[in-house]
Amino acid sequence: MTTASHTPVMLREVIDALKPRDGGVYVDGTFGRGGYTRALLDAAETKVVAIDRDPDAVAAGQQMVFDYKPRLTLLHGPFGAMDVLLAGQHIFHIDGIALDLGVSSPQIDEAERGFSFAADGPLDMRMSKSGPTAADIVNTMHERELADILYTLGDERYSRRIAKSIVEHRATRRLTRTGELADLVRKVVPRSKDGLDPATRTFQALRIYVNDEIGELNRTLKASIALLNPSGRLVVVSFHSLEDRVVKEFMRRHSGLGASVSRHLPANDQAQEEPLFRILTQKPMTPSEAEAKSNPRARSAKLRVAERTETPAKESAR
Ligand SMILES: C[S@@+](CC[C@H](N)C(=O)[O-])C[C@H]1O[C@@H](n2cnc3c(N)ncnc32)[C@H](O)[C@@H]1O
Repeated sequence: MTTASHTPVMLREVIDALKPRDGGVYVDGTFGRGGYTRALLDAAETKVVAIDRDPDAVAAGQQMVFDYKPRLTLLHGPFGAMDVLLAGQHIFHIDGIALDLGVSSPQIDEAERGFSFAADGPLDMRMSKSGPTAADIVNTMHERELADILYTLGDERYSRRIAKSIVEHRATRRLTRTGELADLVRKVVPRSKDGLDPATRTFQALRIYVNDEIGELNRTLKASIALLNPSGRLVVVSFHSLEDRVVKEFMRRHSGLGASVSRHLPANDQAQEEPLFRILTQKPMTPSEAEAKSNPRARSAKLRVAERTETPAKESAR
């Protein structure tokens, strides 16, 4: 396990948005190396429940649990099951949720985790270190489905070409290394003018798929409706357009803007509910120039904030 650090993205903006207060209970759904958690604990006499599905992150956080005893609880699990994890602690109402999506620097930097095409490692990509690996996916999935994943989760326009090449390769030998996959993609995808490694989108798509990142996000957004107290804040930092769109649509749908109501839905289903959230960021916030300069990982960050209204959560509203 690496003890390497992670520079928290848009830290000040996230903490300002959460408005931590004495006695408030906050959930950091993506503990990582605890950048947001520590700032939340330092800002006021808060209680923080931090969650991470990566056992390495939870192990690395034990010193912090000790330092802030008894105000920090660190749980191992997926934030998509936040409601269940919190119920296990007899917590049913909270004052804020922070999500800093994606992977941490220690996860990317440790080649053995298999997230990186920059350093060769096993083709793994599992944040939780359990379940099917990226190698399992690329060596077993039907060519068509593989292409669809690369296209929808990676915006990869050469998805079919890549999927075909993977299937041809695996007919003779199983793909097991990140370096192998990256080389294979580089052979069939032309280099773009922006200098982006041609393997970037393929790795992104596989990572999102292996970790069910969109499903996780949808589940936690839904759970936030019942968990957040009135005036409780939902604060999400995302790093690619797919995630940002999911967050934006959720916030709009539940704030009475109704922009995402489909004309294909029956009239009854389109009835406007009382808003469950108030959107506090009409446009997503982005990092300052100084932060983008000093932390390249921050460059694509988008921060959205919504505040829970007084409207009670109803089963039908979720
Ligand atoms: C970008 S890092 C968070 C960094 C953190 N804000 C900090 O300052 O150190 C994302 C972390 O969230 C975790 N993570 C991502 N998706 C998760 C999920 N669905 N459930 C639980 N943890 C998740 C990852 O394992 C990783 O440690």
